[in-house]
Amino acid sequence: MNHHDKSPVTKHQSPADEKNTPPTTSPLISLANVSHSYLEGGAPLKVLDNVSLDIQQSEKVALLGRSGCGKSTLLNLISGIDLPEQGEITIDGANICTLTETRRTLFRRNHIGFIYQFFNLIPSLTALENVALTLELKGVSAAQARDRSMALLSRLGVADKSASFPSRLSGGEQQRIAIARALVHSPEVVLADEPTGNLDAQTGAAVLEVLHDILDESKSSLLLVTHSLAVARSANRIVTLEDGAISEREGDFAW
Ligand SMILES: Nc1ncnc2c1ncn2[C@@H]1O[C@H](COP(=O)(O)OP(=O)(O)OP(=O)(O)O)[C@@H](O)[C@H]1O
Ligand SMILES: [Mg+2]
Repeated sequence: MNHHDKSPVTKHQSPADEKNTPPTTSPLISLANVSHSYLEGGAPLKVLDNVSLDIQQSEKVALLGRSGCGKSTLLNLISGIDLPEQGEITIDGANICTLTETRRTLFRRNHIGFIYQFFNLIPSLTALENVALTLELKGVSAAQARDRSMALLSRLGVADKSASFPSRLSGGEQQRIAIARALVHSPEVVLADEPTGNLDAQTGAAVLEVLHDILDESKSSLLLVTHSLAVARSANRIVTLEDGAISEREGDFAW
């Protein structure tokens, strides 16, 4: 596991490591019969209804679906930010639903890169500090974290904004900082929620290419939420979410 983790830091051990089990060909991400509801005006609103989805190592899956169908909800569950009402989510052999909150946070930090739909940058940190923090939390020295973060900001075309605070950046600039923060530690799993939604077509295409290049370099898996069929087609596989259910067919996109 974590064959591409080049940093010499102590990493969180998944249950698979602890049992010293041999590597298997099971999916890197596996959702089995996942259901989730929110309370809306006192009544439960079922957003995900018995969703099952497998994603292999290095596989890139695009997720399409109407606004409000539950795409961000699904990413929050896979990342362990929220726990599903029912079902199991396994990442790299670890059932994240049964981990304690602390271990789930550590697991997320070490194995997952999340590009949030609304960026979620830390307002009191500069762009560079936002990115470098991901590495520093893993034990990388401040100097190394800074160098690796700058290199990535440069690849994404926002090196000149490294000293700026998020409130002084455009939406598209914040989005690229958020992408750098999610990718800088070469996580096995990248969850990307509309990662180029705030970029013009040309910048979006260039950033998408960098995203794919980085994923290929680290053999990471991707779940990419998008409203753009063109962006979705950059993935290996497209799934759609409708009425709480995942479908493997592209179908007719009305969104
Ligand atoms: N914390 C919450 N509490 C209550 N309802 C919620 C909560 N989060 C999401 N919802 C509801 O769940 C449904 C799914 O929301 P979600 O954000 O997952 O949709 P989405 O597919 O990501 O939409 P979009 O494409 O607009 O980003 C929506 O009807 C939303 O109003
Ligand atoms: Mg969303």
